[in-house]
Formats: sequence, C-alpha cells, structure tokens
Amino acid sequence: MVMSVAAPQAKGKYAEDNIFGANNRANALAEKIGVDNVINGTVGSILDEEGQLVMLHVVQEAYKALTPKEIVAYAPIQGYPDYLEAVIDQCFGQSRPNGYIQACATSGGSGVLHHIIHNYSEWGDDILTSDWHWGAYGSMCADNGRKLREFELIDKNGRFNFENFKEHVRDMVSKQYNTVIIMNSPANNPTGFALSSADWDQVIVFLKDVVKGQDKNIILVPDVAYLDYSGEKQECRKFFKKFGNLPENIFVIVAYTCSKGFTMYGQRMGAMICVTPNKDIADEFVAINQYTSRATWSNSNSAAMKSMVNICKDPAKVAELDAERAVYFKLIKERADIFMKEAQHCGLKYLPYLSGFFITIPMTEAQRVCDELEREHIFLVPLKKGVRLAVCSVSKKKIAGLAAKIKGAVDSVGANQ
Ligand SMILES: Cc1ncc(COP(=O)(O)O)c(C=O)c1O
Repeated sequence: MVMSVAAPQAKGKYAEDNIFGANNRANALAEKIGVDNVINGTVGSILDEEGQLVMLHVVQEAYKALTPKEIVAYAPIQGYPDYLEAVIDQCFGQSRPNGYIQACATSGGSGVLHHIIHNYSEWGDDILTSDWHWGAYGSMCADNGRKLREFELIDKNGRFNFENFKEHVRDMVSKQYNTVIIMNSPANNPTGFALSSADWDQVIVFLKDVVKGQDKNIILVPDVAYLDYSGEKQECRKFFKKFGNLPENIFVIVAYTCSKGFTMYGQRMGAMICVTPNKDIADEFVAINQYTSRATWSNSNSAAMKSMVNICKDPAKVAELDAERAVYFKLIKERADIFMKEAQHCGLKYLPYLSGFFITIPMTEAQRVCDELEREHIFLVPLKKGVRLAVCSVSKKKIAGLAAKIKGAVDSVGANQ
C-alpha cells in the first residue's frame, strides 16, 4: 500500500492532467528527434509559425518599461483601481451593459472560477457547464466539494442545444438556492463553438422566467478567456449588452483573463467582473471576493497589472495591441481553415468551429487514437468524447496533412465518429 498522510478529502488527488502529460512527452521527443519532426497540438498558447511562444510586442515593451516599484509592490487586494477600470473597458469595449459593474483582480481566469464556485454555490451543489468544456472546471468543483454537471452544448444539427440546457437548469433551480452556470463562449474550449446572438436572447428570456418570483438565483458566468481571438473587436463583444437590465436574481459574473489577450499566461492575471441592477449585490461581490482573495493568494501580481494598465491608458498602444491580436486571430483562422478543408476532403468529422484556440474531432476511443498518433509523433489531447487539436500552436506547414493522418488513426483503431 502507498503511504499517505493526506487528509481524507485530499487522498487520491493527482495533479498532472492529460494535457500537460502529452505536452511533456511531445517536448521530450522533440529534444531527441528535432522539433520539425514532432507535431505538438496540445499547447493552449499561441505559437508562431516557427514554433516559438508568442509574447505580444506591445506587452514585451510594457514589461521592459516597468519601474521597480511597479514590479514588486504589494497591490491592493481588490487590484489597483486603474487595473479594474482597464479590465472592465478591455472586456466590454463598446458593449458595456447597463447596471452596477464592479471588478476584483484574480489569479487568471482560474481564480475567477474558483471564487465563484467557492462563494456562490454551496457544499454539495451541482455547477452547470456544457459537455464540451475545459477539464479544469471539473477539478475546481471536485476540490471544493461541488459536482460538475453537463448539458449537451451542440445538438444534432450543429446548433446550441437549448432544450437540453433548459432541462438541466430547471432541475437545478428546483433543488438549489443558487444555480451557477459556466458558459464558455465565444471560442469555446475545446470546440471553437459560440452561442449566437439569438441563442443568448433565448437563454436570457428563459433564465428570467425560470427564477421569476422565486427566492432563487442564477449565477451566470460567461467565461470569455478567448474573447480577443474570436472576431472583430466590437462585433464579438456585442452580446455583453444583453447582460444589462436583468432582474436582481440573475447575477452575471464575467470570467476575464489577461492570459490569452495579453499573452500573459504564466503571469496569472485576470479579473471577475459583475453586472447587476442592485448596488448591494455589487458591493457584496467586492466584499466577499476580496475576502476570499485574502484567504487564498492574497494580492495579485503587481507587474502584470501595471503592464496591462500602462498599455490601456495609451490609445496608441491599444491600437498596437489590437493590431497584433488581429494578426494572430487571422493566423489561427488560416490554420483552422486548412484543417477543416482537409477534414471535409478526407471525411473526418469535426465539431462546429467558429473561432478560438482549439478544434475538436468527435469520436469514440479517443485515447487509443491519440496513442496511435503518438507513434507517428503527433500529440493531441484525448477527451471523453473526442480529440482536441490546438490550432493556436501548430504551424500551417504542420497542419497540412494532419486531418488525413487523424482519419487514418481513427480507421485503424476502429473508432466511430
Ligand atoms: C475555458 C477556459 N477558461 C479559462 C481559462 C483561464 O485560464 P487562466 O487561469 O490561465 O487565465 C482557460 C485557460 O486555458 C480556459 O481554457
């Protein structure tokens, strides 16, 4: 028997997830046989066509210009006031919803999700998200004594599965005081799917109805981690307007992160941004989440906040930022287009992709297919119902021909699509 001194609730936890595991194997092989001979489609960061991790130039310059104080100072627990203004502006753009809007600095988007689970659901509650979701959601729930529950994101016609969503929400509202819904849209990880404007309208009408006249709340969490690579800057933000003028028992908390939009992944900087028609709810939001920050990681990374602020307060730098993001948005789109075209050509099915870092190929036997591909030095991420390809990190040269290789592996393993 393996020795353990962990407390009962912590026994059996295991940190290395299958994404980092496959990434580590890909890197080890690349060391041995050369990067050109390995396709690593596991990484959720933008790599350029030469395989180098991208740090936006404007962000690099902002870091270089920081003063020692900006780098090392303890920041206020809630975050610097100018950072909080900047995240609200960066997040909503011209589509700021009506209502009380407050923000708290967090440790990336992960920090937002942690605080929401911790402060807006109860021990033992279900938390709702889509069947296609980022794996960390599950660990965050389990680690806090909650259970992640899944609705079907996409119906048989490739559209948002509103019927299934409604069923789950109705059931949860009938059982729980708060129903937390994490909706990773636009640019869903792992599919690249997004709710349309009409989908959001339907969702909001339904949510209003389901808690109308009840002492129950919906905590709606748009996780917009990939927002900045999901379309034209103002166009892709229009749905935020819909979160204004909602009833008090629908509380919106946007999970915002600088990880992707500012290429600050490892700097661990994000923000939770609330929208509510009620000032008390907004004030409580700041109080309880600031408290939880103090009780977990304390204050956030000063250097990251100040780099972000120093870009955002200078319109010329914001223009540079937008232009750089547009370049990478276009690059990722070109890679995705090559893959989808070839997939259609060779009869490989993929889930409806609109934008974002990942494309998913639905199938049974995902693990076996990934094992088979690894023999050809191709590293992808096996999920429960498919395989995830990170188009953000594989060059166009390496994407070319990939669909056929995946199709070959699917056929040789005898997986169904
Ligand atoms: C769906 C989704 N939400 C949120 C995040 C937030 O990540 P971070 O905590 O690095 O900001 C990620 C990052 O991979 C993600 O994929």
